[in-house]
Amino acid sequence: MLQIEALLRRHIGLEATAIGPGRIRQTIQQRMARRGLKSIAEYEQHLYESPAELDCLIEAVVVTETWFFRDRAPFDAFARMVTETWRPQHPTQTLRILSVPCSSGEEPFSAAMILADAGIAPDAFQIDAMDISQHALTRAARAVYSNNSFRGANLDFRQRHFQQVKGGFALNPVLRRSVSFQRANVLDAGFLASTPPYDFIFCRNLLIYFDRFTQASVLAKLHRSLAPDGVLFVGPAEVPIATRCGFTNLRLPLAFACHKSASAAGRRCRRPPRSTASPGPLDGGAGSPIPLVRPMLLPQASTSGPHRDAAVLSYAHELAASGRLEESAALCWRYLQRHPDCAECFYLLGLIQEVNHDPQAIESYRKALYLDPQHYESLERSMVWWEQQGHPARANVFKRRMLRLAQQRRRENRRDSEPLRPE
Ligand SMILES: C[S@@+](CC[C@H](N)C(=O)[O-])C[C@H]1O[C@@H](n2cnc3c(N)ncnc32)[C@H](O)[C@@H]1O
Repeated sequence: MLQIEALLRRHIGLEATAIGPGRIRQTIQQRMARRGLKSIAEYEQHLYESPAELDCLIEAVVVTETWFFRDRAPFDAFARMVTETWRPQHPTQTLRILSVPCSSGEEPFSAAMILADAGIAPDAFQIDAMDISQHALTRAARAVYSNNSFRGANLDFRQRHFQQVKGGFALNPVLRRSVSFQRANVLDAGFLASTPPYDFIFCRNLLIYFDRFTQASVLAKLHRSLAPDGVLFVGPAEVPIATRCGFTNLRLPLAFACHKSASAAGRRCRRPPRSTASPGPLDGGAGSPIPLVRPMLLPQASTSGPHRDAAVLSYAHELAASGRLEESAALCWRYLQRHPDCAECFYLLGLIQEVNHDPQAIESYRKALYLDPQHYESLERSMVWWEQQGHPARANVFKRRMLRLAQQRRRENRRDSEPLRPE
């Protein structure tokens, strides 16, 4: 078993402890059963002889959980930076964006949608999207998504950019064509070796699965491939990893955005103070607002009922993303008076409390999970919280729940991937 774990670490950087050795063991047993092999030794031998089987094992262990506008604020910050800073400074240049890992495409397509909404024509930008999972890339190429990919309060973008088809929602073909997908392993020596620099790189929710050495080596490649004034977006738990490896936190609230550190010395990876993937604060920092691309208007007074309420919650998210944390929290509390059972609202409140270093944050996530035990983002924040507090065992409880949920959704996605006919 240990040999197979080492093989996975060498090939894709996966650190067994990041997803739990139990999960790897279970996956190996399933693969052995599929191949009719009785012993681990036989399976290990088979893995060395058959690259196809290694691919199948990799497909089975990677966590491809993703959804549109995951964490929302990074995308708002991205659009703002493009329209306010990047475009005026590079009026004739094609904007180059990389999304790696892109999983089934929700992340690069979110970037494409928000650029389209900001009035940037599809021929003015290029989005490259890469992932190791062929299965995820096949789903991305199809660009038909089930409800699993649409989460959170604000789903207006679905009306603008998708068409309902049997069993899902198909992305507008113009946006679908604006992203080029490619299979890539970030550990390969040639990864990004000859690509021109990118202006924005999204590398979110990957580094947490790697050991320190692999994190540093992947970040060095991204560092080389990022334009001097470029921006790197990482996942909520990954900012401290990036700041140890030559990047500086831009401290945009909830955006997890970094740029290259000014000093060359910063490029050397520093030893982290605590555990490998020790996730850090959510900030940020409360004091640096990012104005949004879309004007932040409260929903029209004429709007009423659930639509108005959904718009209010979405507005609370926008306020938080723009750094207006107090206003956002006040709106959340008002919203909770009318909707005390809204998990999403407790989650947002938790995020704001976390940025403000308020220990009530974990209580808000607990309430969100009580109301919706499958609220993935609250599970993720709870895991990060307990890791930060130095309670790895508690953190693992949430990590296991996240992985179980991710597996369950993957099975559902597989079912949804059966061929669809337009309605
Ligand atoms: C949790 S998803 C993240 C997707 C998206 N960035 C997001 O944040 O929603 C992690 C992805 O990393 C991919 N992955 C894992 N190891 C990889 C590697 N060595 N090279 C490229 N992609 C990898 C997996 O296939 C999976 O799709």
